[in-house]
Amino acid sequence: MKVGLIGIGTVGGGTFKILKENAQEIFKKTGKKIEITMVADTNLALAKKIVKDEAIITSDAKALIESKNVDVVVELVGGVGISKEFVIEALGNKKHVVTANKALIAIHGEELIRLAKKNNVIFAYEAAVAGGIPIIKALREGLAANKIEWVVGIINGTTNYILTEMKENNLSFDVALKQAQELGFAEADPTFDIEGVDAAHKITILASLAFGIPINFDSVYIEGITKLTQKDIAYAEELGYRIKLLAITKVNNDEVELRVHPTLIPENRLVANVNGPMNAILVKGNMVGPTLYYGAGAGAEATASAVVADIIDIAREATLNIPTLGYIDEQILSKKVLNITNVRSEFYLRLSMTNKAGLLAQITKIFANNDVSIDAMVHKEVSDSHRDPDIFLITSKIEEKIINKIIQELESLPENKDKIIKIRVEELN
Ligand code: HSE
Repeated sequence: MKVGLIGIGTVGGGTFKILKENAQEIFKKTGKKIEITMVADTNLALAKKIVKDEAIITSDAKALIESKNVDVVVELVGGVGISKEFVIEALGNKKHVVTANKALIAIHGEELIRLAKKNNVIFAYEAAVAGGIPIIKALREGLAANKIEWVVGIINGTTNYILTEMKENNLSFDVALKQAQELGFAEADPTFDIEGVDAAHKITILASLAFGIPINFDSVYIEGITKLTQKDIAYAEELGYRIKLLAITKVNNDEVELRVHPTLIPENRLVANVNGPMNAILVKGNMVGPTLYYGAGAGAEATASAVVADIIDIAREATLNIPTLGYIDEQILSKKVLNITNVRSEFYLRLSMTNKAGLLAQITKIFANNDVSIDAMVHKEVSDSHRDPDIFLITSKIEEKIINKIIQELESLPENKDKIIKIRVEELN
C-alpha cells in the first residue's frame, strides 16, 4: 500500500519512523507492505534530512495527492486553511485520508465525512484526539454496545504539562510553556493549548461519537488556564484537590453539556494523578460502567502510533463500513447544548476581603440567602498585619447562574478587595 505524507514535522517524522522501524511487525499484522512513496513539505531541507532518498520529496502537495503512486494521503499539516483543500482534493481523487487534525474535524468534519462517503473512501482521525490513546476506536467500536452517559478527560498534553510543572517544580507558567513547545507538545499557535481551544476541538469530536450528535464546535464553553495562579493551585491542594484542565461532555435526555475549563478534582481520583503531557479519558457507558483510558496525549511517536493504526486499518480494509462518527447518518441528531450558566456543579471560590468582626457572618449570610451550602471553608491570614485574609471555600452543587449571583453580591460588600476567583469542581464519583 502506497502512502503519501503531507507534512514532515513532529508527527510526520514520527509516522515515517514507525512505518520504517516497525515495518516487519506491521507486515505480520496486515500481510501488506506499507510504504511511504511520497513526502510533501514546504521545508524541503527538513524533508530531505528525515526521508533521505527513501521516498520522492516534493513541495507540491497537490502533485502528491494526484500521484498514481499514492493510495492513502496522510495530512499532517494542521490548521484549517490549506489542509482543508488538501483533504478535499484527496477525497475527491478517491484516496483514503488519515489526519491528526482536530481543528479541521471540529470545524469542517461534517463536510469532509460526507465527501469521504460520497467517494467511498475512508476518512480516519484516531490521532486527532488524545495522541496515542485509541479513544476514537474505544468509543466507536469497543463501547458500541453502550449508551454513553458522559466523557470527561485531560486531553491537552501541553496544559497538563504546564500545570504539573507549576505544582511539582514551581516553574512559572511561561517557562513551563516554553518547555512544552521545545518538547513538541504544543500547537503551532500555543494559545490554542493554553486557552483551551485544542481541548475544545477534541471534546467536540468525542461528544459527537459518544452521543450521536453533529460536530458542534461553536457551542463548546471554553476557558483556558492562563488566569490560574500558584495560589489557587496551592489552596486547592489544601482542600484535597488538584486543578486540571478538564474537557467534559454529558448527556441528560435531550440536553448536552459541552465544556472545557480548569477544574478541581479530588486528589485521590486516578485522573488527578495524571501528570506531564499524559492524557486520560474517563468514559461512562450505561452497561460497562466507567472505563478509563490513559497514555501519551502528545509527542511525535505517540501521536504517530495512532496515525499508523489508521493506515493499518485501511490496509486491512477494516473500517470502510464503520460509520465515521460511530452512528449511522440518519441517527445523528442535534441536541440542545446547555448554556454554561445552567450547568450544575460545585464551585471553589477565593475571596480577598478586608478583615473585620462579623465578616464571615456577612459572607455566609449571602450563601444562606441564596440557599447554597458551603461544604468546606478556610480563612487564612496572608498579610504581615495578619488582618486581611484569603478565604477559600467549596460550595454544594448548584446551577452556575446562582453562584454568579452570589459572587456579585460578595463583590458588592465594602470589604471586598479584588475580583473573586471561581473554579468549577468535579467530584468524578
Ligand atoms: N497540542 C496538543 C496537546 C497536541 O498539547 O495535547 C496533541 O493534540
